[in-house]
Amino acid sequence: MDFIPVCEPYLNGRELEYVTDAVRTGWISSSGKYVTAFEEKFAAYCGVAHGVAVCNGTIALHLALLALGVGKGDEVILPTFTMIASAFAVCYTGAKPVFVDADPDTWNIDVTKIEEKITPRTKVIMPVHIFGKMCEMDAIRALAKKYGLMVLEDAAEAHGAEYHGRKAGACSEVSAFSFFANKNITTGEGGMVLTDDKAFFDRARYFKNVCFPLDGPRNYRHDDIGYNYRMSNVVAAIGLAQVEKADEYRAMRIRNHQLYRKFLADVPGIRFQAPPAPDCVDVCWMNTIVVDPAVYGHGKDDLIAHLKEQGIDTRLLFTGMHRQKAMRDFGCDCSGDYPVCDWLTENGFYLPSGSNLQEAQIERICEVIRKFANV
Ligand SMILES: Cc1ncc(COP(=O)(O)O)c(C=O)c1O
Repeated sequence: MDFIPVCEPYLNGRELEYVTDAVRTGWISSSGKYVTAFEEKFAAYCGVAHGVAVCNGTIALHLALLALGVGKGDEVILPTFTMIASAFAVCYTGAKPVFVDADPDTWNIDVTKIEEKITPRTKVIMPVHIFGKMCEMDAIRALAKKYGLMVLEDAAEAHGAEYHGRKAGACSEVSAFSFFANKNITTGEGGMVLTDDKAFFDRARYFKNVCFPLDGPRNYRHDDIGYNYRMSNVVAAIGLAQVEKADEYRAMRIRNHQLYRKFLADVPGIRFQAPPAPDCVDVCWMNTIVVDPAVYGHGKDDLIAHLKEQGIDTRLLFTGMHRQKAMRDFGCDCSGDYPVCDWLTENGFYLPSGSNLQEAQIERICEVIRKFANV
């Protein structure tokens, strides 16, 4: 039986050629042409002026928050249904994460519930484009304008997603991406901060490189506490090859998702994230389903176990930030109800989602799901 992994990276471009070049020429640290080329190419792909490549997406978020000047005493509003890195990055700055429940259809931050969480300490709204579907950026931007806040897109899962003609990462002051191995564009580990604002760009570059003065002499005098968040030229070489294929990979993920929807359309009790809104493109990072046990006939845990027996790998969804001991211990307000997030955690999971998944594999996965429900 052929094992189907949940998400394998797909590297079918010039990765080896570029990496070999970086190694052969000895440019293996963070200086080198691939870092700059990757930053420029990825920023241009997203329609943003500047890119700052870093070691991973968590760090990209931290650096973006530093660029925005977020620190102790500030609050950052983000969805409770997200990968914990979104919240951890806020904690690193000393600011407090404040949580908002998910929308039951889009699974993104519920924009109708943001305003009630705004206080005089709120500095940033951090929408997360869950599974490659962009948040309602017009509504979020309008709220930010009304209250004088800044917006930071956590676009870790949304390379190439579109919202009314603008790409993910191009709808806020600063945005952050991850290039982890399961992402639509990957460098194994990697991340990037994007911004149109030269001042934020400079602050990000400054903090990324242990606060060496950007234009001054390297006299080893430092005015601020900095970080070594630099991406290596070898890693960036992979990134450049991946960006060159960005549209191809995006199309593959979208096609895979459409196949899942088609093959599972008549299976009762299986629900997907809402389809793309008009004039928007979802990039279907992960094919996620939510199971209604009363209708499907089995709960998600039984279905996951059954898929595993058939050689099909899956992953659980995020547990909400309001349920995390780490967040409680940090002093976050985890009281209140977040029923949509809890419903997603309880009933949802990822199906195999790699770009290079074959139609026959998707058909087989869906057949297992269908037969288990006796459809
Ligand atoms: C929404 C979100 N934010 C941030 C991250 C962190 O990225 P990384 O794993 O590259 O640190 C991830 C990673 O999957 C993510 O899904």
